[in-house]
Amino acid sequence: MDRRSVKLAPSILDADFGHLAAQIDEAVKAGADRIHVDVMDGHFVPNISMGASIVRSLRNLTALQLETHLMISDPDFFLDEFVEAGSDSFLVHWEGNNNLHRTLQRIKALGKRAGVVINPATPASVLEEVLPQIDQVLVMTVNPGFGGQHFLHTTLPKIKRVRQMIEEINPACELELDGGIDSETAPLGVAAGADVLVAGTAVFDRQGVTTAMNKLRASLEPAA
Ligand code: DX5
Ligand code: ZN
Repeated sequence: MDRRSVKLAPSILDADFGHLAAQIDEAVKAGADRIHVDVMDGHFVPNISMGASIVRSLRNLTALQLETHLMISDPDFFLDEFVEAGSDSFLVHWEGNNNLHRTLQRIKALGKRAGVVINPATPASVLEEVLPQIDQVLVMTVNPGFGGQHFLHTTLPKIKRVRQMIEEINPACELELDGGIDSETAPLGVAAGADVLVAGTAVFDRQGVTTAMNKLRASLEPAA
């Protein structure tokens, strides 16, 4: 993996919503490749976060790709609303979806990029049938629901397996990680095969977004 081609996707879950425009502006200027929006319904995960109105506000703030991570029951019911609001791609969980293939078909029919998310306890093997159909795999490196959790190192062998499967089945598919990514864990994830990293608390940090993004990028530079 060429470490310099790794994409960074700041998650706004831990942004300061009182200054969202300024925070997005800073993330964009600091080289964010896309913006990650965590949607939680208090049912699929034990937390409530944001809905389509936030995507609509973000759409007015940036031309960057808005990727929408749906941690909700019945994601199909909400796809149209998020598309209207401005979502460019959807990350939907394998867990709890009895008709995942249909959900992916609907996302593609709406003309959007589709990704499948697997939780820490879910094996890589469940991806085999859907891999030809999708643009992204998202491996959760924490249990979904909250920002600021510790990266689960036990997911690293699975990330390697997913990378192998992608190379065999659909090399164009991206491999993204979400949860506990910081300057210590980012290089481990990239070494295991990731090419997109979501980072929430490591970006929207007290040290400032620019400093935080620079630190994260620097951790991915090859040692001199
Ligand atoms: C967790 C969310 C993440 C979260 C990441 O369920 O999916 O996107 O915002 O936050 P950090 O980077 O702080 O783990
Ligand atoms: Zn997320």
